[in-house]
Amino acid sequence: MLGPVEGALASGERGMGRMIEPDEIVRAIDATRREGILSGRRVVVSAGPTFESLDPVRFLGNRSSGRMGFALASEAAQLGARVTLVAGPVNLEGPSGVDRIDVTDALSMEAAVYEAAAGADLVIMAAAVSDFRPAVREEQKIKKGGGPAAIELVENPDILCGLADKAPSAVRVGFAAETEDLEKNATAKLLAKDVDYLVANDVSRADIGFDSEANEVTVFGRDGSVVHLSRRPKIEIAAELLKLFARDERLSARANL
Ligand code: CTP
Repeated sequence: MLGPVEGALASGERGMGRMIEPDEIVRAIDATRREGILSGRRVVVSAGPTFESLDPVRFLGNRSSGRMGFALASEAAQLGARVTLVAGPVNLEGPSGVDRIDVTDALSMEAAVYEAAAGADLVIMAAAVSDFRPAVREEQKIKKGGGPAAIELVENPDILCGLADKAPSAVRVGFAAETEDLEKNATAKLLAKDVDYLVANDVSRADIGFDSEANEVTVFGRDGSVVHLSRRPKIEIAAELLKLFARDERLSARANL
């Protein structure tokens, strides 16, 4: 049996040379998407680093490539979800079929995530949000001679912590980048940030995590469950994670929209 996409293409071929209209192809792809395990669900994913400006040319940032969050957004769309991806500054295209909002710093990421999270079913904070920002953003480039001996920092809001209030009915997922005591730190974050799942990875390893094509993670659930996903490409990690979240009774119980 032909799927909706092949059907649209095949009927186009049979239709005596009729060109397939772009909106027909989009409708056919949409129809395919609605059949996935996240059909009708609204998913929000954050990805990448945040850059906190010091002056017009300098910033505080981190090494996140955004690949894990982009893989999650792309897979969620493939599985039928309507996806909003809030992306920090990254060198990545797409993903297709996703509503992408580009932001720069933690405060703009916070506003975009909270707006998108209202009414969402699943919110995944895969972004590496800077914990601090410079207290002052200089309007002009800081000159060597008159530059500060020290930079005063102020704390950024914790976007994930605030989600319990902004999206109380959503399944909430955090990531934990750790360099030591993975299990202890991850389970502490699960409780402190009031999330349903905490996906932990060891960023001290060069073969996984930041800027790598592959990842290896352990997922800690609010219910005490622990699932380890051995090293594999990030797109496969994303697919496994989404299958796990989709099985969450709060997500699976919601009727298809
Ligand atoms: N996070 C967030 N807002 C912040 C900092 C982190 O939403 N200001 C989210 C991240 O997106 C991630 C989770 O919190 O999902 C954990 O981030 P991580 O950097 O591992 O933890 P921190 O809370 O920053 O704690 P620490 O740096 O002390 O390990």
